[in-house]
Amino acid sequence: MPRHRIGAILLLAVVAVILCLRTPEWPTVLNKPGREILNSTLGFQHIFAINLPSRTDRRDALVLAAALSGLDITWANGVPGEDVHDRVLPGDPSISRELSSGKRGSWRAHMNVLQRVVDENITSALILEDDADWDVRLKSQMQVFAQAARAFTQPSWNGRSVAEQLRDPPGQELPLNQLPQRTRRPRLTPYGDDWDVLWLGHCGTGFPEPTRGAPTSSFRVTIRNDDTVPPPQHLRPHPFALQDALSETYPPHTRVVHAASRTVCTQAYAVSQQGARKLLWQFGLQTLTTGWDLMLRDWCDGLYDSSDTDADADAGPEVSDDDRPRAPLCVTAQPPLFSHHYGRGAASDITAPGGGFVNKKKEMTPYVRRSVRLNMERLVNGQEAVEQWKIEGESSSA
Ligand SMILES: *[C@@H]1O[C@H](CO)[C@@H](O)[C@H](O)[C@H]1NC(C)=O
Ligand SMILES: *[C@@H]1O[C@H](CO)[C@@H](O)[C@H](O)[C@H]1NC(C)=O
Repeated sequence: MPRHRIGAILLLAVVAVILCLRTPEWPTVLNKPGREILNSTLGFQHIFAINLPSRTDRRDALVLAAALSGLDITWANGVPGEDVHDRVLPGDPSISRELSSGKRGSWRAHMNVLQRVVDENITSALILEDDADWDVRLKSQMQVFAQAARAFTQPSWNGRSVAEQLRDPPGQELPLNQLPQRTRRPRLTPYGDDWDVLWLGHCGTGFPEPTRGAPTSSFRVTIRNDDTVPPPQHLRPHPFALQDALSETYPPHTRVVHAASRTVCTQAYAVSQQGARKLLWQFGLQTLTTGWDLMLRDWCDGLYDSSDTDADADAGPEVSDDDRPRAPLCVTAQPPLFSHHYGRGAASDITAPGGGFVNKKKEMTPYVRRSVRLNMERLVNGQEAVEQWKIEGESSSA
């Protein structure tokens, strides 16, 4: 080949590389969340914990659990229901004024945190209730979760998330290691840029319905052989509950990440700035009908979606597809990464947990194998955390 040809080809190649680097989609990055998730706020800007100052017992325990896990907690004072006046309640007064004092206080405490997130322009915040518990391996679990969550929250090179691309036909899933290797670089949070809620601690969730045209994608990411996932017989929200469907659908030690659907209990959830704004608008200003976690459930399920009107209705102005608000994007995991710690006889100030479980002698935390709370005495004494369940046929140090 003549020299000048080779020169021309080289020049073209250089120009192509420069063009690629200048396009806004580039550079894409390996879909491997980095070390920022291992920091003391788990890669969020803040971790808030809601606690009534009078419950010093709970604050002591959570301070210690956080310290033992290298977490930095920002306290948000809980609100006694009596301090929430009728005139501040949004929505239909005949409903909101009938709510129990516990539900009013809980609503206001969560609204106060959302208000702070918006007021201080916080990019992302994890919100914990003061009885939350987690595995001593939380930070590495969160790294894996973030990688799976990005399939929902982070656009790939063509501008759409993996979950969007694979929403039809409904019901598709991919194991974590088969997700596309590259995504656009997340700019806002290591969990991806486009999400409202990451529902990390709950006491039950469904898989989204695999129906065409559902507001959220029914796509799932599976994490196999995750040995922080309890064996199937312990996949239940409290000791007397039925086993979760997860335990029959997947091989043991599988965690599944998917859009939240019928999710309940708010032991732990993260909000992005955009999520906090939407939630504060909806529940600070518009609606108060029931307990906070049930309202969040309905919100994530798209029940407050104002675009969800009859498409063929002839009344009202035409709304173009671009102008419709997108359904909320809430991502969750089964089993959850945070769970409710059942201490000795300590009933919640809001509502007692179900299953007749209060006042039982035995402490436990559903779904969490090496619980920080159950290992507190060992951990303060410099010992290794142990398994909560003795499991036949499996080594407990798995
Ligand atoms: C942890 O990482 C996140 C994301 O990079 C950051 O916003 C946050 O400030 C970090 N936390 C601390 C305590 O440095
Ligand atoms: C809020 O933060 C975002 C980025 O996280 C930034 O782009 C925006 O300008 C900030 N808004 C204000 C009012 O500071």
